[in-house]
Amino acid sequence: MQKKIVFLCSGKGSNFKAVVEHIRAKNLDVEIAGLISDNSSAGALDLAKSFGIPTFVIPFEKYRQEKEKFHLEMERVLVELAPNLVVAAGYMRILPTAIINRFVNRMINIHPSLLPSFKGLKAIEQAIAYGVRYTGCTTHFVEEGIDSGAIILQSIVEILPNSMESDLTAKIHAKEHKILPLSVEYFLTDRLDVQGRKVIIRE
Ligand code: GRF
Repeated sequence: MQKKIVFLCSGKGSNFKAVVEHIRAKNLDVEIAGLISDNSSAGALDLAKSFGIPTFVIPFEKYRQEKEKFHLEMERVLVELAPNLVVAAGYMRILPTAIINRFVNRMINIHPSLLPSFKGLKAIEQAIAYGVRYTGCTTHFVEEGIDSGAIILQSIVEILPNSMESDLTAKIHAKEHKILPLSVEYFLTDRLDVQGRKVIIRE
């Protein structure tokens, strides 16, 4: 049966774009059922419209005093769309347990560091400040705990002594645009086997 995918995005949406382009270029058999954003001015929304993908805005600002309602609304939209896979492509909020539990081993996140180092916000700044020689990006399944689920793919970027944060960010983004589409492809083609913390990628 054809699978369904839904994206969660808060920002620009360059990772979302990379995944959609990969799905289309590879002709993967999946329905892109929608993009949900918590930010009504997210660039990802314009991209989705240009791709002809349905958009759903649940503006966090509107629910600032009522986080529970915000999450219930997001859960309602997700249940209605009934995706097999949810991709958090630059979604900047912590998801509630109720949503995480609905998508165990079916929700993928992209994070701009080599996890488990530098979890949470400003991961690239954290890596520079710490003085590591290498950083990168990671795709992983979402579980409770920030950026802590089983790792699918990682890609390395060297931090040179004179690396500017903007250059490093661009290099990491370029790697993200490779590992996120690939992770989604592996999921859609049933190649990912989660065994505890380990994700086996079948040939
Ligand atoms: C990426 O760096 C991703 O790792 C992080 O948020 C950023 C999203 O960028 N979670 P974009 O919206 O995909 O351009």
